[in-house]
Amino acid sequence: MGKKFFIKTFGCQMNFNDSERIKGMLKTLGYEPTQNWEEADLIILNTCTIREKPDQKVLSHLGEYKKIKERNPNALIAVAGCLAQRAGWELVKKAPVIDIMFSSFNMHQLPELINQAQAGYKAIAILDEPPEDEHKIWEYPVERDNKYCAYVTIIKGCDKNCTYCVVPRTRGKERSRPLHSILDEVKRLVDDGVREIHLLGQNVTAWGKDFEKPIPFSELLYEVSKIEGVERIRFTTGHPRDLTDDIIEAMADIPQVCNALHLPFQAGSNRILTLMDRGYTKEEYLEKVYKLKEKVKGIAMSTDVIVGFPTETEEDFEHTLDVLEKVRFEQVFSFKFSPRPGTPAAEMEGQVSDDVKTERMSRLLELQKRILSEIAKGYEGTVQEVLIEEEKNGELIGRTTTNKWATLKGDKSLLGKIVKVKVNKASAFNLECELLEVLR
Ligand code: SAH
Ligand code: SF4
Ligand code: F3S
Repeated sequence: MGKKFFIKTFGCQMNFNDSERIKGMLKTLGYEPTQNWEEADLIILNTCTIREKPDQKVLSHLGEYKKIKERNPNALIAVAGCLAQRAGWELVKKAPVIDIMFSSFNMHQLPELINQAQAGYKAIAILDEPPEDEHKIWEYPVERDNKYCAYVTIIKGCDKNCTYCVVPRTRGKERSRPLHSILDEVKRLVDDGVREIHLLGQNVTAWGKDFEKPIPFSELLYEVSKIEGVERIRFTTGHPRDLTDDIIEAMADIPQVCNALHLPFQAGSNRILTLMDRGYTKEEYLEKVYKLKEKVKGIAMSTDVIVGFPTETEEDFEHTLDVLEKVRFEQVFSFKFSPRPGTPAAEMEGQVSDDVKTERMSRLLELQKRILSEIAKGYEGTVQEVLIEEEKNGELIGRTTTNKWATLKGDKSLLGKIVKVKVNKASAFNLECELLEVLR
């Protein structure tokens, strides 16, 4: 009987992409995936620690998964990802059932760690810095869930040090993946039927700056677009500070680059932006957005916002609402500020009470709901291009280039095709469409 693994992933797309690589690695070691943790020989939790809530979720899952050892004493429990990197042995003390621990720095060491744990040792490999040979991870295959859209990690780490954020601590300094390694993976993916390439990093717009001979991110967009078979390109996350004119030009110029951009602004008040150390003002952010909207016609913006950063006043918060009104984002991910151990913001005077955060958050959501329903109305009657990703009970599901979910009647033969549709009815989260034409 072959061995089985179960993996549960928390956090951002980078973590999901890491899990796809861990799955690929485990397959080469002869493990088969299972959706049921109770029959697994190896359970992996790929964790996130961006806010307090994901930390707690990991502990409660560990409490449940430890029962596996009663049934299968040889089963191993591994914790990977950002919480592992941040908490290390402290977490093993809280949850001694952990057999294996590693982070995004040393995923490539998983095979050795499994051997070590099977020999009865605790295999806790949390490093202070990413090791020299971390690039080995790119040699492992990726096991993808989506046949037509693939994530490709292009840069690891973050050099920005926003005062609220743990990511520079958990993912280390910025390390760009070499151009040839990215392009090789993209070629393999399109050979495998992928049509949409989603370039990933905590800070993709900083890609290439750390090379001996720096390469601008805009050039990477051109290189990827030249690969035969790449129909769509997305990238996440861009930092407003690094979103230079050449990137905006490339977005306008390259037909495959989707009409959507996720550009977190976090807060509208300049005083709060300074306390966050974001490196731009509200006016500079808005100016970039206006430029984008002018050059890339019909671009759909999305963003991240933090509510209740230390010392945030009513007036500060109204600046955040004002940015929502002005930009009219199609998607807003909003978070209550969560103090993270070791970050400057956690120690700041003037922490905002949870009641105030909740009250502001509900106002923000109310405003965004109104904006979304207005945007939805604007979609009705329009013609859109949709890449069909899934078929469920005779209904096809896909996304527009503006990253909106769309559904239409049709059969499986349209899977993976880009089709032209007419939007009959639009709600905040879905467009009901009818097929006009199969494009390619
Ligand atoms: N690199 C990306 C985002 C990484 S984290 C960027 O800079 O845009 C994803 C989002 O989590 C952030 O954009 C921020 O809105 C939120 N976040 C990060 N730290 C947080 C904290 N301590 N409390 C609340 N939200 C936080
Ligand atoms: Fe965190 Fe800021 Fe880096 Fe984003 S840019 S990962 S918020 S430190
Ligand atoms: Fe979470 Fe780490 Fe991503 S903290 S958001 S999994 S970079």
